[in-house]
Amino acid sequence: MQNLLIFILAAGKGSRMKRAMPKVLHPIGNLPMLGHVLKLADGLVTQPTYAQNNHIGLVVSPDNCDAIQARFPDIPIHIQHQQSGTGDAVKAALADYATNHNTQNNADNGIVLVLYGDTPFISQKTAQSLITAAQQSASQESGALAVLGFNTANPANYGRIVADGDIISKIIEAKELTPAQRKITLCNAGVMAINLAHIHQWLDGISNQNASGEYYLTDLVAAATETGAQIPLIIADEAQVMGVNSLAELAIAEQYWQQQKRENLMAQGVMMQAPETVFFSHDTDIATDVRLDPHLYFGEKVSIASGAHIKSFCHIEGAAIGENASIGPFARLRPKTQLDDNVKIGNFVEVKNSHLKNGVKAGHLSYLGDAEIGADSNIGAGTITCNYDGFAKHKTILGENVFVGSNSALIAPVTIGDNALIGAGSVIAKNVENDALALTRAPQKNIGKQGMNSKSNKQTKD
Ligand code: UD1
Ligand code: MG
Repeated sequence: MQNLLIFILAAGKGSRMKRAMPKVLHPIGNLPMLGHVLKLADGLVTQPTYAQNNHIGLVVSPDNCDAIQARFPDIPIHIQHQQSGTGDAVKAALADYATNHNTQNNADNGIVLVLYGDTPFISQKTAQSLITAAQQSASQESGALAVLGFNTANPANYGRIVADGDIISKIIEAKELTPAQRKITLCNAGVMAINLAHIHQWLDGISNQNASGEYYLTDLVAAATETGAQIPLIIADEAQVMGVNSLAELAIAEQYWQQQKRENLMAQGVMMQAPETVFFSHDTDIATDVRLDPHLYFGEKVSIASGAHIKSFCHIEGAAIGENASIGPFARLRPKTQLDDNVKIGNFVEVKNSHLKNGVKAGHLSYLGDAEIGADSNIGAGTITCNYDGFAKHKTILGENVFVGSNSALIAPVTIGDNALIGAGSVIAKNVENDALALTRAPQKNIGKQGMNSKSNKQTKD
């Protein structure tokens, strides 16, 4: 059994993004692209074929280190002090790893898998076949390095692979291409599996004498070939290996990811009338037999149980929606919302940090925040939980089968008992006991025509 050391390169300046946020923290499906790469790495190291001292490390720069660590505090980092190329990044990572680990035992027994933090969609199957190719070539004495490539009609700024069949002789970076080489359509995906036994020797063989003045990891291929290595090429499909270097490419990556998610959900029985108008997050969890109408946005931490129907123009995040619930159109569900089975939320209703139990209905124009609402209660149009007194948030608790008349203000903290009835237009600041009717409405005064003309009722003009 071999050890698997995975280094994810994320130290680059990301200058083509033209943004202050580190490139690899930019989200796809609301998960930083680095998070997508980490999911792949986690899946690989938990394979039973590898030994226990596997390692996943993030290669970061002194500039983006804090931001990346704040987002992924549990992943070991290796600092690349100067961003002098992907080859230098791997060298820095290996040196740092060696300082922090006892590499005396099993020093050469392992595969280094280099992943790029800006290449988020590589599948576990593809990465696994690359590792296997490197392991097989290691056992043949001919070397131990495998490269992931892809064919594309639009090679743009990808490094080009020069190969004879499935054996590679070199990779040429976009900046170094001659006009004839520009026409090569076989490109480098930015993933390599390299045997530990050879990596130091090959890394020492690359120089920075090129158009960027950088140590290209891709020159490892030529350095390995010179030592007699035969380098196998694994081909992936283009979409899986797209690299993100600019905001335009980020938008393309997002579009690709959303399309995959929609197709997966539809295959599982989630019905969508216009899937291209529905946007999901990496963790959106939707059961079979849910119906999604056009134009919906799902932020992180949303789950929807079977039979629910989400109508158009809803913005939903941090919400657990129960079976056969009906939401929207035009509803906003904010974090920590729990809607039990058969709940109905209608248009222009906002719910936050609230638990609405089985069968609750809030059909129109309401704000329900920090509330607990018992089963079968009915929340009239325009009901507002006044949860904030300017200093702190307070809870509104309703029992079962409460009827809240339209345009009521419930001033928290307040508790309303089972079967209570709140008269429309009330301002409820005191608790209401079970079965009671609560009203705070001012008595209505009807003034007839005669009364309106009387002196006392005439308005004075200034
Ligand atoms: C790289 C490859 C290219 C390949 C493409 C695939 C090299 C030299 N080129 O080009 O052949 O077709 O990816 O997407 O490898 N990084 C560091 N330290 C550095 C420089 C970069 O950690 O000093 C990191 C970046 O943060 C990024 C990754 O390495 O995550 C790739 O760097 P990037 O500048 O995006 O390389 P590309 O031009 O895309
Ligand atoms: Mg890149």
